[in-house]
Order: sequence, then structure tokens, then C-alpha cells
Amino acid sequence: MLNLAVIGAGRYGTNIIRAFKQVESELEVKLVSICDINEKVLKSQCEKYNVQGYVDYREMFEREKIDAVAVATPDPFHKDPCICAANLGKHILVEKPMDITVEGCLEIIEASKKNNVLLQVDFHKRYDPYHQQLCRDVRDGKFGEIEYGYVHMEDRIEVPSEWFRDWSYLSSPVWFLGVHFIDLVRWCIRKNGRCAYATGNKIKLKGMGIDTYDSISAKVVFDNGVSVSFDSCWILPRSFEAIVNQSIRFVGTEGIIECDTQDRGTRLCSNKNSMETYNLGFILESKDRAGNTVYKGYGIESINDFVYNITYLENGGSFENLKKYAISAFGEDGLESTKIAVAIHKSLETGQIVYV
Ligand SMILES: NC(=O)c1ccc[n+]([C@@H]2O[C@H](COP(=O)([O-])OP(=O)(O)OC[C@H]3O[C@@H](n4cnc5c(N)ncnc54)[C@H](O)[C@@H]3O)[C@@H](O)[C@H]2O)c1
Repeated sequence: MLNLAVIGAGRYGTNIIRAFKQVESELEVKLVSICDINEKVLKSQCEKYNVQGYVDYREMFEREKIDAVAVATPDPFHKDPCICAANLGKHILVEKPMDITVEGCLEIIEASKKNNVLLQVDFHKRYDPYHQQLCRDVRDGKFGEIEYGYVHMEDRIEVPSEWFRDWSYLSSPVWFLGVHFIDLVRWCIRKNGRCAYATGNKIKLKGMGIDTYDSISAKVVFDNGVSVSFDSCWILPRSFEAIVNQSIRFVGTEGIIECDTQDRGTRLCSNKNSMETYNLGFILESKDRAGNTVYKGYGIESINDFVYNITYLENGGSFENLKKYAISAFGEDGLESTKIAVAIHKSLETGQIVYV
């Protein structure tokens, strides 16, 4: 039996807790404890999921036998719990971005290597079946050599202004959203970033007392010369038809591929909410035969993938095979995405092209 824990039991931590609870019925794993510095959040999650709660992850690690942990603290606060977990020999699933500094990513990687634990980053875009097909088509050369691409990922304004108003000023649309697609592009074309140039605006959120970018337009050139524009923002109006708006396209020497991952073809218009578009591929709530609530979708699969990976390793599987065959993002992937995002932020500050 592998014992699991979650550090950071807020909005996305809840999704991880649900996924861990659900996978208990399938694999020899058990969610044993949760840690959150917010006692109110902690109490309600522990009552709901019937697990032990701790406000300090060090105490949790001392008191509980834990084999693997998911870290879902705010963007700038992943490093310390990850390093602590690695040094105590726990496998780690860390939310994106792995860390918002290159040095931080390197430290986490070093600790995980030294202690021979799995370090996986939750880049769920890889698990979207439409992206998997896109990636296969790119790698099979179906539309020749890729020349350029375009990505946008945009959130509605309640995300930075309400969902985590207390820490959105410490993040940015690139840290919160952009890294998802930076990882996806890297994964598809199997190249790292070479340089970045970016512009951005601080208007709307700054006016609301939140000192961070509303939007960032970045051009990234990868090692093979492919250039991809990444537009990210988190100030779409509340009346927009979905919480996220996103798409990716590539143009190659022999063709083009476009993937609108926001509008999958089903829209609802009602007097109550105006227009709504579903992205059911991400997280779909349903019931099992016993009437229990079940969550499916690529937002759950990427978490399950971590549990499959650690189960595989504990049963004698090798890291080499995981790195060769799994679609998972590992520590080095987290590092490379962070390198690009850091270059984007440096370019925003300097107005220059920044080499990764
Ligand atoms: N993969 C995805 O699609 C996805 C979606 C949303 C958020 N995220 C990521 O998940 C992470 C958390 O985001 P969120 O939206 O859940 O934020 P949130 O603010 O809802 O939750 C963060 C929680 O961490 C707790 N916390 C902070 N410091 C802590 C510490 N030292 N020890 C224990 N708990 C601590 C806070 O009290 C809070 O409850 C972020 O890195 C974010 O980018 C990923």
C-alpha cells in the first residue's frame, strides 16, 4: 500500500484530493493526510475526505508514513515543500509551474535525484486527447516541418481577482496559464526554448489593487528555429462564455493544424447565464453505479498518471522506462518551461530579446 498526501488543499488541491481518493478503488494506494496553513480550509477538507490534517508539512511528514505527496501551494511556494519531501524520500507531484525561478527548479531536481524519488509536474495539457493527436501529427511530420505556431490561453477576471486574490500579485498570466502551453509546444516539437521577446500590460488588475500583468504577448523561438507566439491573459469579462479560452495552431511546410480547446462544439444559451461553452474533456462529473460522484477527464488523468507511475516504480519499474514511454512531464520539463517563462519575464522588464 502506498500512502499519499496533499500539501495545499485550496481550489486545485481539492481536485488532487478527489483524484487520489478515487484512484484508491483501483490501485493499492490511500490518501492519508492533507496539509494546509489555512485552518478553516484544512478542517473542512479533513471532515469531507476523512483524513488527518496538519498545518505544517514537516510535522505531517514526521507523524505519518507517507510515500508520495502532491504540492498545490501557490505558484511561488512550491520549492520548500518539494525539497523537504524529496529529502525525506517521498515521490512528488508538483503543480505547474514547478518553481518561478530557474535556481529553484534546479534545487528541486537535485534533491529528487539525490534521494531517488520521482519528480513529476502536473502539466495536464499533455493528457487532452486532442493535444495527443496534435502531437502525434507533428511528430509524424503530417504537415511537414513546423515553421511557426500560435497559442492563446485566457482566464476570466474572477480567477486572479477572486479565486486567489491573496497571491495573484505574486504570479502572472504566464506563470499561471502560459506555462501549460509552453510545456505542450516543447513536448510536441521536442525542442527547448532559445530566446524570447515579450510585451505586457498592467492596467485592469493594477486598477483593482493587484500589481501584476493583465496580459502578456510573448514570442518564443525554439532550438530548431520554430517560432511560437503565446498570448496569455486573465482579465476576460465575467460575461465570457467559459472560465478559460484557449487554442493552439501550428503551420508547417506541408500543412496546418488548428485545435480550439475551448469550444468543442457544445454551447448553451439561457436567460440565466447567457452563453456557456463546455470543456468537458477537462473535468467531467458523473455518477458510478453505486451513486458515488466520479470525476473524469484530462485534469484527473494527469494526476492518476502520477499514481500509476509511482505504483510502477514501487513494483520494480525503472525511471528510464518511465522517461522513455510515459507522457508525463518530469523535473527537467518543469525546469525547461520555467527557463522560457523566466526569459519572457526578463524581456518584459528590459524590452530586449532574452536568450534562454
Ligand atoms: N493544473 C491546473 O490546471 C491548475 C489549475 C489551477 C491551479 N493550479 C496550480 O495549483 C496551485 C494552487 O492553486 P490554487 O488555485 O489551488 O490556489 P489556492 O489559493 O486555492 O490554494 C492554495 C492553498 O495552499 C495553501 N498554502 C499556502 N502555503 C502553504 C504551505 N506552506 N503549506 C501548506 N499549505 C499552504 C493555502 O492556504 C491555500 O489553501 C498553483 O500553483 C496553481 O498554479 C493548477
